[in-house]
Amino acid sequence: MEKNGARGKFIVFEGTDGSGKSTQLKSLVKYLGEKGVSCFVTHEPTDSPFGAILRSCLTGRIDTDEHTIAALFAADRLDHIHNPVNGILKKLNEGVNVFCDRYYLSSFAYNGGFVPLDWVVALNAPAREALKPDVTVYIDIDPAQSMARVAKRGETERYEDIERQKQIRRNYFDLFKRFPDENVAIVKSMDDKNETQKNLRAVVCKTLGV
Ligand code: TYD
Repeated sequence: MEKNGARGKFIVFEGTDGSGKSTQLKSLVKYLGEKGVSCFVTHEPTDSPFGAILRSCLTGRIDTDEHTIAALFAADRLDHIHNPVNGILKKLNEGVNVFCDRYYLSSFAYNGGFVPLDWVVALNAPAREALKPDVTVYIDIDPAQSMARVAKRGETERYEDIERQKQIRRNYFDLFKRFPDENVAIVKSMDDKNETQKNLRAVVCKTLGV
């Protein structure tokens, strides 16, 4: 059932590793909450059992191949969308705005670099058909800068080296051209985090109509 008849908006954040999207998302949602906008924040890989397997693959605790990883991401995403208890569609239909840290463009940009992109796109077709973002905010950062941040965090994951990150960034930009029907807003990561936040708020507030 929808609150006031309005379905929530689905807003996705994308970027290479260490782009600062999680921190920016936190500040944004705090700001929106203070304005009385109802928000639910979620992320992929998720915290479900599917996501837990993926985390183990990413840290190397489970050694597996790229096809399996891509398929697991697609499965995790479908459950994320459709789960009857806490799925994204359920929240949206309750009138809640959902903010998701990574979605299928991550699969295309990351996993599509290792296994045929068309196969990854096909795997994610059911997700794209079920739920497209109202807007995808891409936080754009120079990989040299983001990898310096990631190195400070300590333990690195499967895709976290600079050459790979440069490739992933190129993949994202190719994807924006290949999928012009995806509504993507590119927000540059500025040295001053507050400046990035200001630009991000402008995009998101316009989408939410607040
Ligand atoms: P995440 O925890 O968002 O990393 P970060 O906080 O550094 O942005 O994502 C974990 C990793 O999973 C990240 O390297 C990107 C990768 N990933 C894929 O390869 N495919 C996907 O579909 C998703 C959602 C993430």
